[in-house]
Amino acid sequence: MTTEPTIAANRDPLGQLLDTHSVVVCTGAGGVGKTTSAATIALEAARRGRRVCVVTIDPARRLADAMGLDAETARGSEAMRVAGPWAGELWAVMLDTRATFAELIRTYAPTPQQARTILDNTFFRNISDALSGTHEYMAMEKLYELHNDTRFDLVVVDTPPTTNALEFLDAPNRITRFLDHRLYKMLVTPSKGLARAVNLAAQTFLRSISRVVGAAVVDDVIEFFANFEGMEDGFRARAVAVRELLAADTTTFVLVTVPRRDIAEEATSFVTELGAAGISVDALIVNRVHPRFTGRSTDELHADLDRFIGTPLEPLVSSLLDAVTIATTELDHLASLTEALPDAPVVRVPFLDADVHDLDGLERLTGHLFAD
Ligand SMILES: Nc1ncnc2c1ncn2[C@@H]1O[C@H](COP(=O)(O)OP(=O)(O)OP(=O)(O)O)[C@@H](O)[C@H]1O
Ligand SMILES: [Mg+2]
Repeated sequence: MTTEPTIAANRDPLGQLLDTHSVVVCTGAGGVGKTTSAATIALEAARRGRRVCVVTIDPARRLADAMGLDAETARGSEAMRVAGPWAGELWAVMLDTRATFAELIRTYAPTPQQARTILDNTFFRNISDALSGTHEYMAMEKLYELHNDTRFDLVVVDTPPTTNALEFLDAPNRITRFLDHRLYKMLVTPSKGLARAVNLAAQTFLRSISRVVGAAVVDDVIEFFANFEGMEDGFRARAVAVRELLAADTTTFVLVTVPRRDIAEEATSFVTELGAAGISVDALIVNRVHPRFTGRSTDELHADLDRFIGTPLEPLVSSLLDAVTIATTELDHLASLTEALPDAPVVRVPFLDADVHDLDGLERLTGHLFAD
């Protein structure tokens, strides 16, 4: 049963990544299969005996149900254990941006009362959704939290669809940049309560905006920033720790793509941007690949077709030619991406005849992603 280790590693590149890392990040463009891949990777890890938690983002309803993440009970970002016959443990959590942000505020607010004031603040409730990158940041934040949770030895994280790698990588820095903002600085002065939190220049400025947006809104903003006082250091330290975790040797990035020219091009620039930020992609999953059926080339099949024209074999050879033409085109689409990732193993997953929406479907996919 045991084979020579390097051969086993080459045959099962994703399996090897699972065995040697504590965080797996599944990234890629919208709709390529990130959520499905993350869930499949987590399931396989549990089968291999690991205590794994997968963070999913907006999973399709049926897949969420299959993983015990029904909207009523699972929202609130608590990890739920998925029952099954595996050697390890499979846990799943659905990312709840709001709840994660709230937890973060509770962690860093000097007093519970201050946390409550911030969380009830209308301005906070508006910006916590609108702040660019909040979704990405909270995904990373949740990852960090679960990574430090002793119940799990592996965290697999699904990511929001990314068109711009920096958006996603930069997420942990965004909140700190926001805190460095001039308006923020203007509103908060060291530790002297609401009245003195606003200096003279700011007061003039606020008087003019309150004419436009209304005094209540401005009061909310002041209350928010005044209460945020004392939390910036914690937030900044946390952002640094999250960024370090993303770049750690024990964290691996798996890029999911489909063999389409536009998506592969997007993925290629994504890889370049990740690389510039010091993060390498360790494996490439090419999802929804059409099967080739034969080792024969299109030229050989054209010749075959000429030979079999008018015979019962003609339709068969013709279909084979179509399939090989599609498969060859798909390979062309992927060429620049695989060149950009010379060291990353490529794992292909066929276009299945049905959506993957339950544990049986995920099990089926493990057969394509991992060696037996
Ligand atoms: N190999 C496959 N064959 C057939 N269907 C697939 C395959 N992989 C994924 N799917 C289906 O494609 C759909 C999209 O997959 P998934 O939700 O995993 O993508 P995603 O990258 O997470 O999307 P989003 O960016 O919207 O979050 C799902 O319905 C899923 O069941
Ligand atoms: Mg998804």
